[in-house]
Amino acid sequence: MPVQVGGGKATEPRGKVELSPTAVADKGRASSKRNRRRQKKASSAAAPSFSPAPVAAMQRLFDTSREVFADSSPGFVPPPDAVARLSGLLNDLKPHDVGINSSMPYFKHVNSKGPPQVTYLHFYDCPKFSFGIFCLPKSAVIPLHNHPGMTVFSKILFGSMHLKSYDWARSPPDSNNSTLETSDGARLAKVNTDAVFDASAETVVLYPENGGNLHCFTALTPCAVLDVMGPPYNCADGRDCAYYDESPSSWGGDEQYSWLKGIPSTFEMKGIQMVRKFTV
Ligand SMILES: [Fe+2]
Repeated sequence: MPVQVGGGKATEPRGKVELSPTAVADKGRASSKRNRRRQKKASSAAAPSFSPAPVAAMQRLFDTSREVFADSSPGFVPPPDAVARLSGLLNDLKPHDVGINSSMPYFKHVNSKGPPQVTYLHFYDCPKFSFGIFCLPKSAVIPLHNHPGMTVFSKILFGSMHLKSYDWARSPPDSNNSTLETSDGARLAKVNTDAVFDASAETVVLYPENGGNLHCFTALTPCAVLDVMGPPYNCADGRDCAYYDESPSSWGGDEQYSWLKGIPSTFEMKGIQMVRKFTV
């Protein structure tokens, strides 16, 4: 799901996103003394427990993502060796490598009246790829959404979550019934994953047509997930994020199917633009 951080660029996931008043939408371009003063003040006010990520780890992530998504366009699937390279790098990534820890305010449920708020720490985006970290307090939910034409690498940095994912069914599971779409617009989708994951799990990769292109997360403990995705959502390109309701189909057997119907999103997420410069 894309997060709109600032001026209309889309990353994942999307919802109504408000920039923290203390967040800095720098994107590594501003360099005036005034901006530097503002950034220093803003970062210390935003997250007292935030310690800047080691430059080397983030730069390596940027460099490798840039290589993997060099030819990125809608429907692009990185070659297997590139997938293995980025997955391997993410597998070894620790929370301190990206400057986060579970005592940060993003992982606490502060407003007991509303649902736990998801925060997206937005590190980088360009037309070919983007990456950032989803911060979920316990019981927070990122609802079922899609990734049109995208490849997404997800790595849990800490915590535990339930992941359920689907791919659109390409052929009917029952030869007696060839319906892939109902009259009210629900489409048949096949369950890809329905399991609990934690930081010991390897990087999960979803692709434009398989690997669980539609997914939802439920945090069982406070958790952090780093996503690298390409190409990012692009509304103007017809690749906005869509949200779905699911209802189980009557088809059983070893493979599970559900009907997914598009719904208007009521999901709200807070987006924070991280100040980070990467060397090209
Ligand atoms: Fe997603």
